[in-house]
Amino acid sequence: MLRPSRALIDLDAIVHNIREIRRYLRPGTIFMAVVKANGYGHGAIPVARAALDAGAEWLGVATVEEGIQLRRAGLTAPVLVMGPILPTQADLVVAYDLRAAVFEPELAQALSAAARRLGRPVRVHLKVDTGMGRIGVRPDDITAFGRILMDLPRLEVEGVFTHLAKAGDPDPTYTHEQLSRFETALASLESIGLKPRYRHAANSAAILSHPEAHYDLVRAGIAIYGLVPGCRQSWPVNLRPAMRVVSRIAYIKTMRPEECVSYEATWTAKGGERIATIPIGYADGFRRLFSNRGFMVVGGKPCPVVGQVCMDQTMIQIPPDVPATVGDEVVVLGPGFTADDWARVLGTISYEVVCLIGRRLPRVYLREGKIVEVAEPD
Ligand SMILES: Cc1ncc(COP(=O)(O)O)c(C=O)c1O
Repeated sequence: MLRPSRALIDLDAIVHNIREIRRYLRPGTIFMAVVKANGYGHGAIPVARAALDAGAEWLGVATVEEGIQLRRAGLTAPVLVMGPILPTQADLVVAYDLRAAVFEPELAQALSAAARRLGRPVRVHLKVDTGMGRIGVRPDDITAFGRILMDLPRLEVEGVFTHLAKAGDPDPTYTHEQLSRFETALASLESIGLKPRYRHAANSAAILSHPEAHYDLVRAGIAIYGLVPGCRQSWPVNLRPAMRVVSRIAYIKTMRPEECVSYEATWTAKGGERIATIPIGYADGFRRLFSNRGFMVVGGKPCPVVGQVCMDQTMIQIPPDVPATVGDEVVVLGPGFTADDWARVLGTISYEVVCLIGRRLPRVYLREGKIVEVAEPD
Protein backbone atom coordinates (compact mmCIF):
# COMPACT_ATOMS: atom_id res chain seq x y z
CA MET A 1 0.00 0.00 0.00
CA LEU A 2 1.49 3.28 -1.10
CA ARG A 3 1.56 6.28 1.17
CA PRO A 4 -0.19 9.33 -0.26
CA SER A 5 3.12 11.11 0.25
CA ARG A 6 5.54 9.97 -2.40
CA ALA A 7 8.31 11.02 -4.75
CA LEU A 8 7.40 10.79 -8.42
CA ILE A 9 10.39 10.23 -10.67
CA ASP A 10 9.89 10.98 -14.34
CA LEU A 11 12.32 8.69 -16.16
CA ASP A 12 11.44 10.37 -19.46
CA ALA A 13 12.87 13.57 -17.98
CA ILE A 14 16.16 11.77 -17.28
CA VAL A 15 16.26 10.54 -20.88
CA HIS A 16 15.36 14.00 -22.19
CA ASN A 17 18.01 15.69 -20.04
CA ILE A 18 20.75 13.33 -21.16
CA ARG A 19 19.89 13.90 -24.81
CA GLU A 20 19.80 17.62 -24.20
CA ILE A 21 23.20 17.62 -22.45
CA ARG A 22 24.67 15.47 -25.23
CA ARG A 23 24.04 18.31 -27.65
CA TYR A 24 26.87 20.17 -25.91
CA LEU A 25 29.40 17.40 -26.54
CA ARG A 26 31.65 16.60 -29.46
CA PRO A 27 30.68 13.32 -31.12
CA GLY A 28 32.54 10.45 -29.50
CA THR A 29 32.71 12.01 -26.03
CA ILE A 30 31.86 9.36 -23.46
CA PHE A 31 28.91 10.23 -21.21
CA MET A 32 29.11 9.15 -17.59
CA ALA A 33 25.84 9.42 -15.67
CA VAL A 34 26.63 10.13 -12.03
CA VAL A 35 24.23 8.08 -9.90
CA LYS A 36 25.92 8.34 -6.51
CA ALA A 37 23.92 8.97 -3.33
CA ASN A 38 21.08 6.79 -4.59
CA GLY A 39 20.98 8.71 -7.85
CA TYR A 40 20.87 12.07 -6.04
CA GLY A 41 17.89 10.73 -4.11
CA HIS A 42 16.01 9.64 -7.24
CA GLY A 43 16.97 5.94 -7.04
CA ALA A 44 20.29 4.75 -8.45
CA ILE A 45 19.11 1.71 -10.34
CA PRO A 46 16.08 3.05 -12.24
CA VAL A 47 18.05 6.21 -13.05
CA ALA A 48 21.07 4.21 -14.21
CA ARG A 49 18.86 2.07 -16.46
CA ALA A 50 17.16 5.12 -17.95
CA ALA A 51 20.53 6.82 -18.43
CA LEU A 52 21.97 3.83 -20.26
CA ASP A 53 18.80 3.68 -22.40
CA ALA A 54 19.37 7.33 -23.27
CA GLY A 55 22.87 6.57 -24.48
CA ALA A 56 25.05 7.14 -21.42
CA GLU A 57 27.99 4.73 -21.57
CA TRP A 58 29.45 4.92 -18.07
CA LEU A 59 28.12 5.21 -14.53
CA GLY A 60 29.76 7.13 -11.71
CA VAL A 61 29.36 6.45 -8.00
CA ALA A 62 31.00 7.65 -4.80
CA THR A 63 31.54 4.39 -2.95
CA VAL A 64 32.34 0.74 -3.56
CA GLU A 65 28.99 -0.20 -2.00
CA GLU A 66 27.14 1.94 -4.54
CA GLY A 67 29.07 0.25 -7.34
CA ILE A 68 28.23 -3.20 -6.00
CA GLN A 69 24.55 -2.23 -5.84
CA LEU A 70 24.62 -1.49 -9.59
CA ARG A 71 26.36 -4.76 -10.38
CA ARG A 72 23.92 -6.75 -8.24
CA ALA A 73 21.09 -5.17 -10.24
CA GLY A 74 22.68 -6.69 -13.33
CA LEU A 75 24.14 -3.51 -14.81
CA THR A 76 27.30 -4.26 -16.76
CA ALA A 77 28.33 -0.77 -17.94
CA PRO A 78 31.70 0.55 -16.79
CA VAL A 79 31.39 1.96 -13.26
CA LEU A 80 33.91 4.40 -11.78
CA VAL A 81 34.08 4.77 -8.01
CA MET A 82 35.04 8.44 -7.85
CA GLY A 83 35.44 8.74 -4.08
CA PRO A 84 38.11 7.41 -1.73
CA ILE A 85 38.39 3.64 -1.30
CA LEU A 86 40.07 1.84 1.58
CA PRO A 87 42.84 -0.60 0.61
CA THR A 88 40.84 -3.26 2.51
CA GLN A 89 38.11 -2.91 -0.16
CA ALA A 90 40.46 -3.78 -3.02
CA ASP A 91 39.15 -7.34 -3.46
CA LEU A 92 35.59 -6.03 -3.85
CA VAL A 93 36.67 -3.51 -6.48
CA VAL A 94 38.26 -6.26 -8.54
CA ALA A 95 35.58 -8.89 -7.92
CA TYR A 96 32.78 -6.53 -8.99
CA ASP A 97 34.75 -5.13 -11.92
CA LEU A 98 34.66 -1.54 -10.69
CA ARG A 99 37.08 1.19 -11.76
CA ALA A 100 38.82 2.91 -8.86
CA ALA A 101 40.05 6.46 -8.38
CA VAL A 102 43.63 6.26 -7.10
CA PHE A 103 45.84 8.92 -5.61
CA GLU A 104 47.89 7.06 -3.00
CA PRO A 105 50.27 4.13 -3.43
CA GLU A 106 48.62 2.01 -0.71
CA LEU A 107 45.33 1.59 -2.57
CA ALA A 108 47.05 1.08 -5.92
CA GLN A 109 49.27 -1.62 -4.43
CA ALA A 110 46.31 -3.31 -2.75
CA LEU A 111 44.37 -3.26 -6.04
CA SER A 112 47.29 -4.75 -7.94
CA ALA A 113 47.64 -7.49 -5.31
CA ALA A 114 43.88 -8.20 -5.44
CA ALA A 115 43.99 -8.35 -9.24
CA ARG A 116 46.80 -10.90 -9.12
CA ARG A 117 45.01 -12.92 -6.46
CA LEU A 118 41.71 -12.97 -8.34
CA GLY A 119 43.36 -13.50 -11.71
CA ARG A 120 41.82 -10.51 -13.47
CA PRO A 121 43.07 -7.02 -14.29
CA VAL A 122 42.06 -3.87 -12.46
CA ARG A 123 41.55 -0.50 -14.13
CA VAL A 124 42.24 2.71 -12.28
CA HIS A 125 41.75 6.41 -12.89
CA LEU A 126 44.45 8.62 -11.48
CA LYS A 127 42.88 11.50 -9.56
CA VAL A 128 44.68 14.84 -9.77
CA ASP A 129 43.93 17.62 -7.30
CA THR A 130 44.06 20.79 -9.35
CA GLY A 131 42.27 22.99 -6.84
CA MET A 132 39.30 21.13 -5.37
CA GLY A 133 41.41 20.33 -2.31
CA ARG A 134 39.50 17.15 -1.54
CA ILE A 135 41.27 14.06 -2.89
CA GLY A 136 43.95 13.66 -5.51
CA VAL A 137 47.65 13.84 -6.23
CA ARG A 138 49.14 17.31 -6.59
CA PRO A 139 50.42 17.98 -10.12
CA ASP A 140 53.96 18.30 -8.62
CA ASP A 141 53.87 14.73 -7.36
CA ILE A 142 52.28 13.15 -10.37
CA THR A 143 55.38 11.86 -12.11
CA ALA A 144 56.53 9.91 -9.06
CA PHE A 145 53.03 8.51 -8.53
CA GLY A 146 52.64 7.68 -12.22
CA ARG A 147 55.88 5.67 -12.10
CA ILE A 148 54.61 3.69 -9.11
CA LEU A 149 51.41 2.86 -10.99
CA MET A 150 53.28 1.84 -14.15
CA ASP A 151 55.30 -0.70 -12.17
CA LEU A 152 52.29 -2.43 -10.61
CA PRO A 153 51.35 -5.73 -12.25
CA ARG A 154 47.79 -6.30 -13.52
CA LEU A 155 46.92 -2.65 -12.95
CA GLU A 156 45.96 -0.54 -15.96
CA VAL A 157 45.94 3.26 -15.71
CA GLU A 158 42.88 3.66 -17.88
CA GLY A 159 42.02 7.22 -16.90
CA VAL A 160 43.23 10.45 -15.39
CA PHE A 161 40.83 12.99 -13.98
CA THR A 162 40.27 16.05 -11.87
CA HIS A 163 37.27 17.75 -10.32
CA LEU A 164 36.39 21.41 -10.82
CA ALA A 165 35.45 23.44 -7.77
CA LYS A 166 33.86 26.50 -9.39
CA ALA A 167 32.77 25.49 -12.88
CA GLY A 168 29.36 27.10 -12.34
CA ASP A 169 30.83 30.47 -11.46
CA PRO A 170 30.27 33.20 -14.08
CA ASP A 171 33.91 34.19 -13.48
CA PRO A 172 35.92 31.45 -15.24
CA THR A 173 39.32 32.36 -13.73
CA TYR A 174 39.51 29.56 -11.16
CA THR A 175 38.34 26.94 -13.65
CA HIS A 176 40.93 28.09 -16.18
CA GLU A 177 43.63 27.78 -13.52
CA GLN A 178 42.46 24.28 -12.64
CA LEU A 179 42.41 23.21 -16.28
CA SER A 180 45.87 24.64 -16.82
CA ARG A 181 47.17 22.57 -13.86
CA PHE A 182 45.42 19.54 -15.32
CA GLU A 183 47.17 20.13 -18.65
CA THR A 184 50.50 20.31 -16.82
CA ALA A 185 49.72 17.03 -15.08
CA LEU A 186 48.80 15.36 -18.38
CA ALA A 187 52.04 16.57 -19.95
CA SER A 188 54.05 15.24 -16.98
CA LEU A 189 52.42 11.84 -17.32
CA GLU A 190 53.09 11.81 -21.03
CA SER A 191 56.75 12.62 -20.37
CA ILE A 192 57.08 9.29 -18.54
CA GLY A 193 55.16 7.43 -21.24
CA LEU A 194 51.78 7.35 -19.49
CA LYS A 195 48.92 8.42 -21.73
CA PRO A 196 45.65 7.17 -20.21
CA ARG A 197 42.81 6.60 -22.63
CA TYR A 198 40.21 8.63 -20.72
CA ARG A 199 41.03 12.15 -19.56
CA HIS A 200 38.12 13.78 -17.74
CA ALA A 201 37.30 16.90 -15.79
CA ALA A 202 33.79 18.14 -16.56
CA ASN A 203 30.85 18.02 -14.18
CA SER A 204 27.46 19.40 -15.25
CA ALA A 205 28.48 23.04 -14.99
CA ALA A 206 31.62 22.49 -17.05
CA ILE A 207 29.70 20.47 -19.64
CA LEU A 208 27.38 23.43 -20.15
CA SER A 209 29.90 26.24 -19.96
CA HIS A 210 33.47 24.99 -20.51
CA PRO A 211 33.79 22.95 -23.72
CA GLU A 212 37.57 23.00 -23.27
CA ALA A 213 37.03 20.79 -20.17
CA HIS A 214 35.20 18.00 -22.00
CA TYR A 215 38.27 15.93 -22.96
CA ASP A 216 37.34 12.26 -23.62
CA LEU A 217 34.58 11.73 -21.06
CA VAL A 218 32.20 13.93 -19.07
CA ARG A 219 30.67 13.21 -15.67
CA ALA A 220 27.13 14.58 -15.55
CA GLY A 221 25.28 14.56 -12.25
CA ILE A 222 22.84 17.29 -11.28
CA ALA A 223 21.89 18.18 -14.86
CA ILE A 224 20.63 14.69 -15.69
CA TYR A 225 18.14 15.16 -12.86
CA GLY A 226 16.97 18.36 -14.53
CA LEU A 227 18.47 20.80 -12.06
CA VAL A 228 20.98 23.49 -12.84
CA PRO A 229 24.35 23.58 -11.13
CA GLY A 230 26.17 26.32 -9.34
CA CYS A 231 25.37 29.90 -8.54
CA ARG A 232 24.34 31.04 -12.01
CA GLN A 233 20.61 31.40 -12.32
CA SER A 234 20.12 30.87 -16.02
CA TRP A 235 21.65 28.25 -18.26
CA PRO A 236 21.12 27.93 -21.98
CA VAL A 237 19.74 24.44 -21.69
CA ASN A 238 16.26 23.02 -21.60
CA LEU A 239 16.25 20.62 -18.65
CA ARG A 240 13.24 19.00 -17.01
CA PRO A 241 13.33 18.31 -13.26
CA ALA A 242 12.83 14.57 -12.82
CA MET A 243 11.59 14.59 -9.23
CA ARG A 244 8.31 15.78 -7.79
CA VAL A 245 7.19 15.14 -4.25
CA VAL A 246 3.46 15.04 -3.71
CA SER A 247 1.04 14.31 -0.91
CA ARG A 248 -2.67 14.68 -0.23
CA ILE A 249 -4.70 16.76 2.19
CA ALA A 250 -5.46 14.48 5.14
CA TYR A 251 -7.60 16.87 7.18
CA ILE A 252 -8.92 20.39 6.82
CA LYS A 253 -10.50 22.73 9.34
CA THR A 254 -11.55 26.34 9.74
CA MET A 255 -9.81 28.00 12.65
CA ARG A 256 -11.40 29.87 15.51
CA PRO A 257 -9.76 33.02 16.85
CA GLU A 258 -6.80 32.36 19.16
CA GLU A 259 -6.49 28.69 18.22
CA CYS A 260 -2.87 27.63 17.74
CA VAL A 261 -1.13 25.21 15.41
CA SER A 262 1.57 22.63 16.16
CA TYR A 263 4.35 22.25 18.73
CA GLU A 264 5.24 25.27 20.80
CA ALA A 265 2.07 26.99 19.52
CA THR A 266 4.10 29.32 17.30
CA TRP A 267 1.16 30.22 15.03
CA THR A 268 -2.14 31.65 16.24
CA ALA A 269 -5.28 32.04 14.16
CA LYS A 270 -7.14 35.30 13.72
CA GLY A 271 -10.18 33.20 12.95
CA GLY A 272 -11.62 31.88 9.69
CA GLU A 273 -8.37 30.56 8.18
CA ARG A 274 -8.54 27.15 6.51
CA ILE A 275 -5.71 24.97 7.73
CA ALA A 276 -4.91 21.67 6.01
CA THR A 277 -2.87 18.88 7.55
CA ILE A 278 -0.50 17.14 5.14
CA PRO A 279 0.92 13.72 6.09
CA ILE A 280 4.56 14.52 5.43
CA GLY A 281 7.15 15.85 7.83
CA TYR A 282 10.80 16.24 8.60
CA ALA A 283 11.32 12.47 8.73
CA ASP A 284 10.49 12.55 5.01
CA GLY A 285 12.91 15.39 4.31
CA PHE A 286 10.44 18.27 4.63
CA ARG A 287 12.82 20.14 6.86
CA ARG A 288 11.78 21.58 10.20
CA LEU A 289 13.40 24.80 8.98
CA PHE A 290 10.27 25.22 6.84
CA SER A 291 8.26 25.91 10.01
CA ASN A 292 6.35 29.17 9.35
CA ARG A 293 8.61 29.71 6.28
CA GLY A 294 8.06 27.06 3.64
CA PHE A 295 5.27 26.44 1.16
CA MET A 296 3.31 23.65 -0.43
CA VAL A 297 1.22 24.07 -3.56
CA VAL A 298 -2.51 23.33 -3.79
CA GLY A 299 -4.45 23.94 -7.00
CA GLY A 300 -1.40 25.70 -8.42
CA LYS A 301 -1.31 28.22 -5.55
CA PRO A 302 1.43 28.48 -2.91
CA CYS A 303 0.15 27.77 0.59
CA PRO A 304 2.36 28.84 3.51
CA VAL A 305 3.39 26.39 6.19
CA VAL A 306 1.91 27.42 9.52
CA GLY A 307 3.38 26.39 12.83
CA GLN A 308 6.21 23.96 13.27
CA VAL A 309 6.79 21.11 10.87
CA CYS A 310 6.34 17.83 12.77
CA MET A 311 8.11 14.54 12.15
CA ASP A 312 5.26 13.11 10.06
CA GLN A 313 2.78 15.94 9.48
CA THR A 314 2.77 19.57 8.41
CA MET A 315 0.03 22.18 8.44
CA ILE A 316 -0.50 24.69 5.62
CA GLN A 317 -2.88 27.59 5.20
CA ILE A 318 -5.16 27.36 2.18
CA PRO A 319 -5.72 30.80 0.60
CA PRO A 320 -9.39 31.89 0.55
CA ASP A 321 -9.67 31.66 -3.25
CA VAL A 322 -8.39 28.07 -3.46
CA PRO A 323 -10.93 25.27 -3.33
CA ALA A 324 -9.57 22.37 -1.28
CA THR A 325 -10.92 19.22 0.29
CA VAL A 326 -9.54 16.13 1.97
CA GLY A 327 -7.78 13.94 -0.60
CA ASP A 328 -6.71 16.79 -2.90
CA GLU A 329 -3.17 16.59 -4.24
CA VAL A 330 -0.52 18.79 -2.68
CA VAL A 331 2.78 19.51 -4.43
CA VAL A 332 5.52 19.48 -1.82
CA LEU A 333 8.42 19.79 -4.24
CA GLY A 334 7.70 20.65 -7.84
CA PRO A 335 6.15 23.42 -9.91
CA GLY A 336 5.33 26.30 -7.56
CA PHE A 337 7.88 25.27 -4.93
CA THR A 338 10.85 23.83 -6.78
CA ALA A 339 14.13 22.35 -5.56
CA ASP A 340 15.71 25.77 -6.14
CA ASP A 341 12.94 27.39 -4.05
CA TRP A 342 13.59 24.86 -1.28
CA ALA A 343 17.28 25.65 -1.53
CA ARG A 344 16.70 29.40 -1.23
CA VAL A 345 14.52 29.02 1.87
CA LEU A 346 16.84 26.48 3.47
CA GLY A 347 20.05 28.30 2.56
CA THR A 348 21.46 25.38 0.60
CA ILE A 349 21.76 24.09 -2.97
CA SER A 350 19.40 21.94 -5.01
CA TYR A 351 21.91 19.03 -4.78
CA GLU A 352 21.27 18.80 -1.06
CA VAL A 353 17.52 19.23 -1.50
CA VAL A 354 17.08 16.12 -3.64
CA CYS A 355 19.37 14.14 -1.33
CA LEU A 356 17.18 15.20 1.61
CA ILE A 357 14.07 13.49 0.29
CA GLY A 358 13.62 10.75 2.84
CA ARG A 359 13.89 7.05 2.23
CA ARG A 360 10.49 6.66 3.90
CA LEU A 361 8.81 8.12 0.82
CA PRO A 362 8.05 5.55 -1.86
CA ARG A 363 9.67 6.35 -5.21
CA VAL A 364 7.17 5.99 -8.04
CA TYR A 365 8.77 5.77 -11.48
CA LEU A 366 6.91 7.10 -14.49
CA ARG A 367 7.32 6.68 -18.22
CA GLU A 368 4.93 8.45 -20.58
CA GLY A 369 2.98 9.45 -17.47
CA LYS A 370 2.38 5.82 -16.46
CA ILE A 371 3.77 4.05 -13.40
CA VAL A 372 6.42 1.56 -14.49
CA GLU A 373 7.99 0.74 -11.14
CA VAL A 374 7.51 1.47 -7.45
CA ALA A 375 10.27 1.34 -4.87
CA GLU A 376 8.78 1.06 -1.40
CA PRO A 377 10.86 1.96 1.64
CA ASP A 378 13.01 -0.90 3.03
C1 LIG B 1 34.10 13.62 -8.88
C2 LIG B 1 32.75 14.07 -9.33
N1 LIG B 1 32.50 14.15 -10.65
C3 LIG B 1 31.30 14.55 -11.11
C4 LIG B 1 30.29 14.91 -10.25
C5 LIG B 1 28.98 15.39 -10.81
O1 LIG B 1 28.82 16.75 -10.53
P1 LIG B 1 27.50 17.53 -10.95
O2 LIG B 1 26.41 16.93 -10.14
O3 LIG B 1 27.77 18.93 -10.57
O4 LIG B 1 27.32 17.30 -12.40
C6 LIG B 1 30.52 14.86 -8.88
C7 LIG B 1 29.47 15.27 -7.95
O5 LIG B 1 29.63 15.97 -7.02
C8 LIG B 1 31.78 14.42 -8.40
O6 LIG B 1 32.04 14.34 -7.10
